[in-house]
Amino acid sequence: MAFKISQRGRLAPFLALDVLATATALEREGRDIVHLEIGQPSTPAPKAALESARRALDETNIGYTVAAGLPELRQRISDWYRQRYGARVPIERVLITQGSSGAFQLAFLAAFEAGDKVALAAPCYPAYPKILRTLGIEPVFLKARPEDAFQPTPQVMEEAMAEHGALDGLIIANPNNPTGAMVHQDELNALMDWCDTNEVRVIADEIYHGISFAGEETTIVENPHSVVINSFSKYFSMTGWRLGWMVVPEDMVQTVERLQQSLAICAPSISQYAAIGAFDGIQELESNVARYRENRQILLDGLAETGLTQLAPADGAFYIYAGVDDVANDSSAFARDLLEQEGVATTPGIDFDPVNGDKAIRLSFAGKPEDMREALVRIKRFTGR
Ligand SMILES: Cc1ncc(COP(=O)(O)O)c(C=O)c1O
Repeated sequence: MAFKISQRGRLAPFLALDVLATATALEREGRDIVHLEIGQPSTPAPKAALESARRALDETNIGYTVAAGLPELRQRISDWYRQRYGARVPIERVLITQGSSGAFQLAFLAAFEAGDKVALAAPCYPAYPKILRTLGIEPVFLKARPEDAFQPTPQVMEEAMAEHGALDGLIIANPNNPTGAMVHQDELNALMDWCDTNEVRVIADEIYHGISFAGEETTIVENPHSVVINSFSKYFSMTGWRLGWMVVPEDMVQTVERLQQSLAICAPSISQYAAIGAFDGIQELESNVARYRENRQILLDGLAETGLTQLAPADGAFYIYAGVDDVANDSSAFARDLLEQEGVATTPGIDFDPVNGDKAIRLSFAGKPEDMREALVRIKRFTGR
């Protein structure tokens, strides 16, 4: 007898996590590792979130919540949109999810049929095409251009339509992981007009909002057809709490709610209580952003001397996407040797871009300023510059 394992369940590994596993094993052997591979804050949840979670432990039984999430948390998110962006978001459209990862699954299931085509620009967060594929949805990689910071434009959407036929959706990551590039207001308006006219459903990943260094972030939360996804993982510094949210069009609310009922019941309730408090920790969170700003500057100032080149403006998030063309032929081998010889963990670009990723690595600057300085010294020694 041969019991099968499904084809659709077989995914390529998430390399950033593989690198983390190797780096951690080296650390256990006593090596001193500088971590630039992992995309998570090195800080805990804000104190107000921890207090709120402790109170919930004492005062509630941490049971299930309704599928859409605690009304108080949804209200705080709605208020957040009003205060930060002047946007009106009724709480009925806000649903709480298991990280933004959970929100992607719900959004793709609610918006697309198996066989639909969803466009995305590479380099991108590796889970998007993987989640799409497991759901039977076809990812269509756009020919995004370096002069557009590898972000989608109406023109590349037209080109993709000419090549692949009608597109059903587009994922926009703003700011993007791994480049940090943002789509600013005018470009975003043009892209959204194009998508609305062509009935292309936009799923916007706004998970790095709050962490930006080049002007205000723009949300598309008021677009009536789009799904906006966000998370407590990055700005709010709560990765392991596994909590995110989505804002969906009015006519999609019931579908998403029913999907959530059957796929997860609800997002973790202890995390939802913590997140209510997180909105009172903004001062602490802004000091994290100040540190990211300092780290970013240290890397940008020192990068050229290492032989690496910056491939897109690091406007937001906590990453620099760096070309290794001048110093290596293959970024996976470069990242492996850099880790083994100098103890600097980075993520090979192939994780983010199956076509051109062999020429780039991603450096995460979510850590400490002294780690950034040390990384530069070691990379320079490694490249012999
Ligand atoms: C662009 C982007 N979207 C989504 C996620 C998933 O985050 P989470 O599920 O923790 O909200 C990540 C994590 O690194 C990311 O970089």
